[in-house]
Formats: sequence, structure tokens, C-alpha cells
Amino acid sequence: MRRFGIALWFVGCTASPLGGGPPDAAGPDAAAARDARDQDAPRAEPDVSAGCGEAERSAGVCLSERDWEIVRTLSPLPPPPADPTNAYADRQDAAALGQRLFFDPRLSGPLLAPENGLEADGGNGPVGAAGRVSCARCHAPEHGFSDARSYPPQTSLGAGFTPRHSPALLNVAHQRWFFWDGRKDALWSQTLGPIESPLEHNFSRVAVVRALFRHHRAEYEAIFGPLPDLSDLARFPDTDRDPTTGRPGAAHPDALDYDEMAPEDQALVDRVFVNVGKALAAYLRRLESRDSRFDRFVAGQSSALDRIERQGLVLFIGRAGCVRCHRGPTFSDGEFHNDGVAQDGLHVARRDLGRAGGIPVVLADPLGAAGAFSDDPSAGRAHLAGLSVQAADVGAFKTPGLRGVAASPPYFHTGYAPTLDDVVRAYDKGGGDSSVVSFAGDKDARLLPLHLSEAERAALVAFLRALEGAPLDRCLLAPTTQGGLACR
Ligand code: HEC
Ligand code: HEC
Repeated sequence: MRRFGIALWFVGCTASPLGGGPPDAAGPDAAAARDARDQDAPRAEPDVSAGCGEAERSAGVCLSERDWEIVRTLSPLPPPPADPTNAYADRQDAAALGQRLFFDPRLSGPLLAPENGLEADGGNGPVGAAGRVSCARCHAPEHGFSDARSYPPQTSLGAGFTPRHSPALLNVAHQRWFFWDGRKDALWSQTLGPIESPLEHNFSRVAVVRALFRHHRAEYEAIFGPLPDLSDLARFPDTDRDPTTGRPGAAHPDALDYDEMAPEDQALVDRVFVNVGKALAAYLRRLESRDSRFDRFVAGQSSALDRIERQGLVLFIGRAGCVRCHRGPTFSDGEFHNDGVAQDGLHVARRDLGRAGGIPVVLADPLGAAGAFSDDPSAGRAHLAGLSVQAADVGAFKTPGLRGVAASPPYFHTGYAPTLDDVVRAYDKGGGDSSVVSFAGDKDARLLPLHLSEAERAALVAFLRALEGAPLDRCLLAPTTQGGLACR
């Protein structure tokens, strides 16, 4: 086992990054790495080809032994953790159906926002037109499954404008909480939100069942069994007339709507709706960004990162303190922090409580991992145990993973930063300054001005770019062809 054998030990080469480095980065993983090294990796001779001569040492591109311990906690990316709350999570047939649904605009209702009329500017079609918005509209494969289409680009345009930017979906199945505010506790449950949101698909669960019946019946029934018959319009809302009547809270005075349905009919529909979420999640689990140049570097190919990228890595895990929050193989701690990102932009909410708003929602979610449609409610309950709003949750947003990040501008939950350089500049200033920009809550106290030089900023950006993974299998990037499975 030579995996760690190539490591270069220059103790004191870059004076141990910033006061001994981020304390919370060297957790159990680092200890495991150390054990593995002690057992089977004789200390390697310094490898000058890795660029650690005198000049490089003073340029800060060498990794100390302690740096390597941290670096090994960032790579490789393991497979996504099992999701016991979704019995279909790892089924290929479910993933193939999920992929078809992900790219299917027929699961959407009438467009509401006037901006949609400007198709040249990224709109979806004339106001009132239906069947225009698929998941892929705001999560485009060529942008790391994020949105670079909507104009202005800060947030995303579906039937209306969302108040936050669409996150990239690469490695999403590794996360513990979903949405920027963590208001969902399972990936399958997350996917149900956009379908019924008036700003996104503006559709409804009853309309989803009818769309499945028409367009995806054989594939659905092969996995989940017979679809219910919704032809009785005295029992089920007439979603062909108005798709929005088929969701909770629709409150249509002149039409039968979801809230007026018999509870057992609601349950029939809810079950199919949840199955759609489970199929979508099975597809999303396959969107993995791995095997980047950074991973090759960690695995022993020292030439995989150039000098500048290595300088960026040393800063990332050291003086710039990024690894305090962007840690582990996804480069996210899965937690929520307040970066002081300005609530600024045409469709951005003026005030956004972030995690403090998400916690009450996830605790009360009838379609969550602890609910009746979960395949393991006790696992869901364990996940939620002890969750309550703390002061630090106000204005805190989920730490995004950084693998493949270069493909998915703009950045932050408001899409506030158009480029990675803008992101690094924001951190260089110590995050947002509440006397200048508006955001809820208090900024994380660890975010302080970094005093980076221009070259150091560029090095950090170069390092972030080196996190681009191997291309996804092409079979995952487009609607699946009729009848066939997407990928083997
Ligand atoms: C109109 C644009 C739009 C459409 C259409 C859309 N999304 Fe999203 N998506 C967003 C935005 C914006 C967010 C972040 C919202 C938030 O955090 O409040 C998001 C968040 C997500 C997340 C959470 C990612 C994370 O890191 O927590 C997932 C997963 C996701 N969407 C999947 C889907 C799926 C599946 C569909 C189709 C059923 C879909 N989206 C349709 C804009 C869109
Ligand atoms: C205190 C924890 C913390 C630290 C330290 C930190 N980040 Fe972040 N990072 C976050 C959070 C939280 C967000 C999302 C903030 C938001 O949108 O409100 C974020 C967002 C980002 C994004 C945008 C990603 C996207 O998809 O929108 C990038 C890039 C990034 N950070 C890189 C860095 C770099 C580089 C450093 C070091 C200079 C760093 N971060 C330090 C927590 C942190």
C-alpha cells in the first residue's frame, strides 16, 4: 500500500500553517491517516520533483507533515452514504425514471413572472404558458447542475423568480440537510418542494400523478406498482383545467382542490408523489464529482497540481482558514454559518433568516424523513433529535461543497459573487461588513480579514479550479431515450 508513501515530509517547510492550522480539521480522519502512515508507509525521501526546493519553500508551496494529515481528510471522495429513508435510492430503474423526470418540462404549470416573456434573456416563455420548466432549467448539467441562464443571474427564474440562487447539485447525496437553509432532511423529500412551488414548477402532486399516467406509466408501474385512477373529478381536482388546484393550500374557491379531497384519496396521491421524489433522488445520487487533479495529487501524482495550485492548497488548509468549514471529502462540514453575504439584488429577499427559518420547517415537515412516507422513520427521527434554533442560526447558510465549483457561478446563496475571484475577495475582507451591507444575524466570528496578496488570491482560485472532477458519464447528462435505461 503505497498510497501515502509519496508524501513529502518537510516539517517546518511552510511554517505550520497559521498557528498550528485549523484545530477542527484534524479530526479522527487525520488520526486514521496517521495510523495508516505509521503502519505501512516508510518515510519517503523528499521528492524534489514535487517542487519543494529552497525557492518553493519560501514561496509557500510545500506541504508539511501536518498539512498532509489535513489534505488526506479531503480525498478521495467515498460513495454517498446509504439513505435508509429511501428504499429506491440505489436502484438503477428508479434512477432512470428520475432522470427522465428531471428533464421533463411537462411537470410544470403556468408561468407567472413577466420576465419570462424575454426568452432571449433566459425566460421560459410567455406568461401563462405551461409545460416549460424542468428541473434541468435551473440545474443545468453543463453548469454543475446549477443555473447560469436566468437574468439577472443572481437568482433563478422558473414560473417566477426564486429569492435564492440555485445551488449546484454535484455530490448532493453526501449532504445531511438540503436547501441553503436545511429545511429538508432527505434528498427525496427535497425534490418535492420545487414541483409545487409557485416560483419554480408551479405544478401540483395531483397533476404529477396525471402526467405520470400519460407519459411515464410503464416505467413507473414497473418499479412502484399500479398508478391510481384519478378519472373521477368529483374526488380528484381537475388539474388539466388548472394544475395548481392539486396541491395543499391551493384555496381555489370555485374548484375542488387538494385540501377538499378525502384523506384516503390524498394519501393515494401523496404516495405517488413521494415515489417521484425517491426516483429523482436515485438519479441525483449519481451526480458525483470525483477524481479531480487534486485527488490525483493526494494519491501520489505530485505533478497533478502546479506550483500555484499547491500554493493555493497550502493557503486553503492554512492561513486562509477555508478548511475550517469546507472540510472532509466534499469540502463541506454539512453545517450552517453566517458569512455576512449581502441580501442584495433584484429578486433577493431583503431579509433572510437562513437556518433559523429552516429548522422549524424541517421539524414540522409531513413529507420528511421522519414522516409516514419515509422508509425508515426512526432514522429520520434520530436525524432530527435535539434540533432547535440557536442564535448563530440566524442568517446562517449551508456550507456548499466545492468539488466542481468552477462550473457553477454565480456564488453564495444570493448569487452575489459572479466569479471565484469575487468569492475570495469577499473572504479576504473577512466576509460581509454589516455596517455596509445588509444581512440577518451576526457574521461568524472566525471570518477576519486575511490580508492576501493578489498572487495569493489567484492561487486560491487556481486551487479551487483544480477541484474539477472527471466528467460525468454522458448518459447522465440528458433526457433518457424512450424505454431504455439511461446508464448501465
Ligand atoms: C426555478 C428554478 C428551479 C427549478 C425549476 C428547480 N430548482 Fe432546485 N433549487 C433551486 C433553488 C433556487 C434552490 C435553492 C433554494 C433554497 O435554498 O431556498 C434549489 C435547491 C435544490 C436542491 C438542494 C441542493 C442543496 O444543496 O441543498 C436540490 C436537490 C434541487 N434543488 C433539486 C431540484 C429538482 C430535483 C428539481 C425538479 C423537480 C428542481 N430542483 C427544480 C432552483 C430550482
Ligand atoms: C465560517 C465557515 C467558512 C469559512 C471559514 C469559509 N467558508 Fe466558504 N462558505 C461557507 C458558507 C456558509 C458558504 C455559503 C454562504 C452563503 O451563501 O451565505 C460558503 C460559500 C463559499 C463558496 C461559494 C460556493 C457556491 O457554490 O456558491 C466558495 C467558492 C467558498 N465558500 C470558498 C471558500 C474559501 C476559498 C474560503 C477560504 C478563503 C472559505 N470559503 C472559507 C463557509 C465558510
